[in-house]
Amino acid sequence: MLNLARRVHVTPRQLDEGLSALGLDGTQHLIVHSSLRSFGQLEGGAATLLHSLEQHAATLVAPAFSYQTLMRGPQSPVYARFGRETRVSRDIGRLPQMMVERPDALRSFHPALSFVALGQQAADLTAQQSLDSPYSPIGALYALDGYALLIGVDHSSNTSIHYGEYLAGMPLLTRYVPLDGGVAASSFPNCSADFERLGPYVLPSIAYVGKSRLRLYRVRALVDAAVCLLTHDPQALLCNYSGCRCQQVRQMVQQAGLHPRPHPAAPSPQHAPEAVSQL
Ligand SMILES: CC(C)(COP(=O)(O)OP(=O)(O)OC[C@H]1O[C@@H](n2cnc3c(N)ncnc32)[C@H](O)[C@@H]1OP(=O)(O)O)[C@@H](O)C(=O)NCCC(=O)NCCS
Ligand SMILES: [Zn+2]
Repeated sequence: MLNLARRVHVTPRQLDEGLSALGLDGTQHLIVHSSLRSFGQLEGGAATLLHSLEQHAATLVAPAFSYQTLMRGPQSPVYARFGRETRVSRDIGRLPQMMVERPDALRSFHPALSFVALGQQAADLTAQQSLDSPYSPIGALYALDGYALLIGVDHSSNTSIHYGEYLAGMPLLTRYVPLDGGVAASSFPNCSADFERLGPYVLPSIAYVGKSRLRLYRVRALVDAAVCLLTHDPQALLCNYSGCRCQQVRQMVQQAGLHPRPHPAAPSPQHAPEAVSQL
């Protein structure tokens, strides 16, 4: 079958122009979620994308999740251990894998839910993670008033929303990972399949590059909107697929409600979160 999307040729200059049009001028701290294929044919592939993003951000972060380390239970066999070089899961993408391959990139410790970062605040962002709060690097981005960039993907790839769920007090599941020669329990969230439901409550800056739509959001706007939405309707972001772990989370939230968690990186008053007036 012909892959028509590949026929659109995108140059590095077009990509630079698109990122500039979004206002990315090299001073922002940015988490990125991307689909390379969404552009059409990007000249230079993932290397071009990484180079261009680095030119337009002070700090570049991406999820570098490696689900192959997840264990079925605390006693089950360990199929894969985690290390600095562990391959990023295919459904997280080529860009984070390329970042991991950069010797100067930092990667956080979580065996399944690590983040990879380059640039100014990379050390701070990758240090902010725990087994109880795997998405805390987003909390650090929130404190830095950072941005989330979706490149040809929708909110189902938008990790910042998981951090909003965490703050709102959504129940978390438990998963097991090999760590330091033993086995550790880690918090693990519901799935993100229906995160597009947050879309109407957050306004992006938008640019088009080739066939790809780039959407840029303030992390604070995403997180605050998720907290606000869930406070009104705790089940709003859970999917309805009967086989999904979301149904277990649904039961837990029906039984025990939300238990909001403190914001470990709360902004100072002059950086108060944006009001979410649409809700
Ligand atoms: C799943 C996902 C990665 C798939 O996107 P994708 O574009 O197919 O995959 P990648 O970005 O990894 O890019 C690799 C693909 O780009 C294509 N490609 C290769 N070179 C290319 C080029 N120069 N230009 C354009 N596309 C190219 C290939 O089809 C390749 O797929 P293949 O390895 O199967 O051949 C993407 O949809 C996504 O969700 N990304 C965000 C993930 C995320 O951050 N999740 C957070 C979880 S909360
Ligand atoms: Zn689900």
